[in-house]
Amino acid sequence: MKKSNIISLATFVLSGLVASCSKNDISPLINNTVIKKDTVVGITPIIMTVIDPYSAIKLTFGNNIDPNALLNYANQVKPNYITKDNTNVNSITNSKATLGRVLFYDKNLSINNTISCSSCHKQNFAFSDTALISSGVLGGLSVRHSMRLINTRFANETKFFWNERATTLEQQATMPIQDHLEMGYSGINGRESISSLLSKLSKINYYKELFKFVYNDTIVTEVRLQESLAQFIRSIQSFDSKYDIGRAQVNNANDAFPNFSAIENTGKQLFMTPPTFNANGIRTTGGLGCNSCHNAPEFDIDPNSRNNGVIGVIGSNNIELNNTRSPSLRDITKADGSINSRMMHNGVFENLNAVLAHYNNIPNNQRNTNIDPRLRPNNNTQQLNLTVAESNAVIAFMKTLAGTAVYTDRKWASPFILP
Ligand code: HEC
Ligand code: HEC
Repeated sequence: MKKSNIISLATFVLSGLVASCSKNDISPLINNTVIKKDTVVGITPIIMTVIDPYSAIKLTFGNNIDPNALLNYANQVKPNYITKDNTNVNSITNSKATLGRVLFYDKNLSINNTISCSSCHKQNFAFSDTALISSGVLGGLSVRHSMRLINTRFANETKFFWNERATTLEQQATMPIQDHLEMGYSGINGRESISSLLSKLSKINYYKELFKFVYNDTIVTEVRLQESLAQFIRSIQSFDSKYDIGRAQVNNANDAFPNFSAIENTGKQLFMTPPTFNANGIRTTGGLGCNSCHNAPEFDIDPNSRNNGVIGVIGSNNIELNNTRSPSLRDITKADGSINSRMMHNGVFENLNAVLAHYNNIPNNQRNTNIDPRLRPNNNTQQLNLTVAESNAVIAFMKTLAGTAVYTDRKWASPFILP
């Protein structure tokens, strides 16, 4: 048989097989079979088929994921003044973080294939949601405001959610999946539980290939989802802010930063320095004491913080006293100064002026039995006695904490070719 005949025969057989498959059911074996021809003269040509182990990955993710050239999650550079790290045993690897990226953007993780983690955690808004409450499956709504997922790793606090009900990031990762209102695999009111999800994912071709690639077998378990999702989230880091550029230029963090305006340096000083209060809880001198809870340079929350006087519940008159966690204050705004999303667990503040107005005059609510003592000096709720200039300075300073790359870097973007 002539060479050209072999090729046309092979092409004929292949196209016939492909055409007989439904659009969503192209077997990886057929789709990416490579025909190799032995071209040595005088030897009968051999047709050898090589099965591409990543054909479904290529089909679904195109150039966004190349198992032979993974993007860098494991060895990202961070400034040397960043020392906090809450990674316990599950250190970031490029392969598991890549699997985590796929899971994070995959609507298959919800009961009716409509909601992914990224529905409520949008890269463009520091992985928070512009909506006050986020939409989950079948009309479900989140109970609290979504949280930014920036630098979760670089913190002393190891617990997650506003009320710290997840003891690790791994434990946190599959809680939204099992939340009745969010992704729906709750096992209640006739809904399926997470075990249904595990078997659903194990039948999807790109997960067969990804799990084989990452774990050497195709078994999908909750622990593996937790490991991979947590590695992906831990990899989301932001250290290219104006603050970082300035911090790198001084030996002592308390020095004025050369790249800051006078107002920004004043704001930094106010943020970092504790206040002095009189017997009535009114500030007489000093700074605003923000740093005692939102600790620089990570701006993570003090694990011992109690609540900050924001105790409202969205859409009700109830109160909640146990929201004692804040995400890092980095990337509260973008570099252009615009707010990424509403602030606090109940999204009560839409701008930083309102935040400062709150700390300026913490409400004296007798029912708040868990307010942090730092905000109750001499047994009175704090009054900072802020001037407009002081308030503006702290706001200008908080805007210096905005990064840029985290909003656009493709390693944290959706890997799917089709939306
Ligand atoms: C329906 C919207 C929604 C979906 C879907 C969702 N989240 Fe969230 N996420 C939230 C809200 C709201 C909070 C804060 C909830 C609270 O504290 O009660 C949150 C909090 C978190 C936190 C805690 C951050 C911190 O600093 O403590 C992490 C991490 C997180 N989500 C990751 C995920 C992952 C991973 C998925 C997908 C498996 C996911 N989320 C799916 C809305 C959502
Ligand atoms: C006693 C500890 C404490 C002090 C002091 C403190 N905060 Fe907070 N802060 C918190 C806690 C806890 C939260 C989360 C509260 C919630 O959502 O219920 C928070 C939330 C925030 C948020 C919203 C974060 C987000 O992701 O929505 C901003 C902004 C903020 N604080 C700024 C400041 C500033 C500015 C100061 C100084 C004037 C300050 N904080 C002082 C404990 C503190």
